[in-house]
Amino acid sequence: MTTPDRAPSGAAQAPAAEADPREIRPARIQEELQKSVLGQDDTLRQVALAVYKHTTGMVPGNILLIGNSGTGKTTIMVAIQRLYASLPHYQPFRSMAIVNANLLVDPDRLEFRPDRLLAAVEQQARAIIGHPATAAELKTAMDRATICIDEIDKLSAVVAGKPNPIGIVLQQGLLTLMEGSHVPFRTHAVVDGQDQPVTLQIDTQGMMFICGGAFEGLYDQVYARVISPTSTQKLKPVMVRQADGGLGFESRFSLRDFFRLDDIFQYGMVPQFIARFDGVLLLAELSLVVLKEILLDSVDSPFLRSRRFFEGLGISLELEDMAAELIAVQAARHTRTGARALRPLFGKVVNAFEYDPWGTGALQQLEEGRFRLLLTAEIVRKTLGAGEPGA
Ligand SMILES: Nc1ncnc2c1ncn2[C@@H]1O[C@H](COP(=O)(O)OP(=O)(O)OP(=O)(O)O)[C@@H](O)[C@H]1O
Ligand SMILES: [Mg+2]
Repeated sequence: MTTPDRAPSGAAQAPAAEADPREIRPARIQEELQKSVLGQDDTLRQVALAVYKHTTGMVPGNILLIGNSGTGKTTIMVAIQRLYASLPHYQPFRSMAIVNANLLVDPDRLEFRPDRLLAAVEQQARAIIGHPATAAELKTAMDRATICIDEIDKLSAVVAGKPNPIGIVLQQGLLTLMEGSHVPFRTHAVVDGQDQPVTLQIDTQGMMFICGGAFEGLYDQVYARVISPTSTQKLKPVMVRQADGGLGFESRFSLRDFFRLDDIFQYGMVPQFIARFDGVLLLAELSLVVLKEILLDSVDSPFLRSRRFFEGLGISLELEDMAAELIAVQAARHTRTGARALRPLFGKVVNAFEYDPWGTGALQQLEEGRFRLLLTAEIVRKTLGAGEPGA
């Protein structure tokens, strides 16, 4: 009989020789992640290394991703999932959960609920196994999980200057998991040929944890520290193109240049929790060039999505280069929403055409039953208002 106690430990075991994860070097992993995540190369380098360590059985570095809304934190988590799904080498590592931090605490009883996390992992583990799982199979797949906890900043230990019990419970619960512990998990599995209730002792030692959050107040908090009269740090002047086309210098604040671990403790994260992360990675602000690329070329590109829609109607959608630039300029102005702004902005431009392409008078006939729709800079200016590149 197979009992959970005798199941293999959480250490990753090499799968079949033809699909050994060691073949996929960190540079290749980074390349794969870059297909979905643009403009975050420094961060992806670290993430790729952590994935490599995790999938080759070394102790992975747990990672904390900090970045403004719409800079790619959730996109990175989804990109890892996509990477695992796309290469056979990662078959044994596909149990992965992406959950919001608030799901992990029961607010009424102030109780940490790792079972909710493990239930998400279990669902994928069963899908990988593909047949009614034994307890040992289930435990092995779950012990190797990649755990992504999003919106971690919403569960700060301090809110408006007062202790926030939910945040404290979450951070303490998570830090215990990240240290490596055995969590009893009640489920069902095949024992002696029959599906029966079992309690697995899930070993979190071999799991990889990636937490992410926007930490909104952190930006203002660090800025206030840097510009305070007693500060020894100075804003760095950066070269910018001005409205008249000439070059000039401006003092720009970037959280990445000034962030210290102390700042995040002051924000309200428990030091012992933060100490469990090997890497605290700050995502870059997305430049105009990157925003334009996300609009035109990313996996989630609003333009490509709309182009597919028009394709179904026999219409080839095209976007003038200057039109894309103008949309990116407008998105860059919404500094707190990052690439999130691209979708509604592009939506505003394209909505009337999607609603009634033939009624707009903008279609050019290419051949019998096929049309071309060119979204020009003029159309963008008309729908979004002025906003010249570099202005
Ligand atoms: N670096 C990036 N590369 C490609 N696409 C991106 C990037 N950043 C954001 N996006 C796009 O913008 C949208 C929002 O991104 P995402 O969900 O990753 O933001 P987030 O950093 O998790 O923000 P939030 O803190 O608001 O959750 C997605 O549609 C995604 O495709
Ligand atoms: Mg997110």
